[in-house]
Amino acid sequence: MERNTCMILALDVTEREEALKIAENVREFVDAIKVGYPLILATGLDIIRELARFAPVIADFKVADIPNTNRLICEQVFKAGADAVIVQGFTGRDSLDACIEVASKYGKDVFVVSEMSHPGGAEFLQSAAEAIAKMAVEAGAFGLVAPATRPERVKEIRKIIGDRLTIISPGVGAQGGKASDVISAGADWVIVGRSIYKAESPKEAACEIAEEIQAELRGK
Ligand code: XMP
Repeated sequence: MERNTCMILALDVTEREEALKIAENVREFVDAIKVGYPLILATGLDIIRELARFAPVIADFKVADIPNTNRLICEQVFKAGADAVIVQGFTGRDSLDACIEVASKYGKDVFVVSEMSHPGGAEFLQSAAEAIAKMAVEAGAFGLVAPATRPERVKEIRKIIGDRLTIISPGVGAQGGKASDVISAGADWVIVGRSIYKAESPKEAACEIAEEIQAELRGK
């Protein structure tokens, strides 16, 4: 995935036309589009290929099953045209290996969730985040998902993984995180959903966040 704007759109709308319209409007400001259960359950898996006309698509299925089932899920995701898949790390090394094996076969990427961005993400998962990050490095994942709502945790995780993995970071805007803070903490990309797709002008909202990120990067 190329790093230009350092922003990923989380497209959690449930109407096909609306999804395509927003994707087309904001494509110049995002490096990828993340889709998950809301859009895919509402419109079908074909939406991945339709959106891939505008930007690489990350399938956020938070895959969390036994290795064989993970393998079957990842096959479907990559056959549908996704460039990357998000998987949970807490299920362990064998489950993660199964996803990475399929991704490698298709020349695609795996992002591993280390710690989630919502308040409940600190309840159980946070204590395992550092071990999950180390495992993701050893397994050869492409990147980690770390919380924009806790930039200090992004910084910690960046220290552990160095530059061996990328970090994508959800939680900017609606969940309270600030794009410039999380980029300065060490994230490669911020993920933004509601602040863009619910805005009166998704294009203007995306442009504003993209400018904030570029200003932060220029200041470095
Ligand atoms: P909003 O609307 O809050 O959307 O900007 C955020 C998007 O990111 C997803 N999300 C996460 N995905 N680990 C993940 O893998 C996380 O910690 C996490 N937090 C939020 C969320 O589902 C939405 O698509």
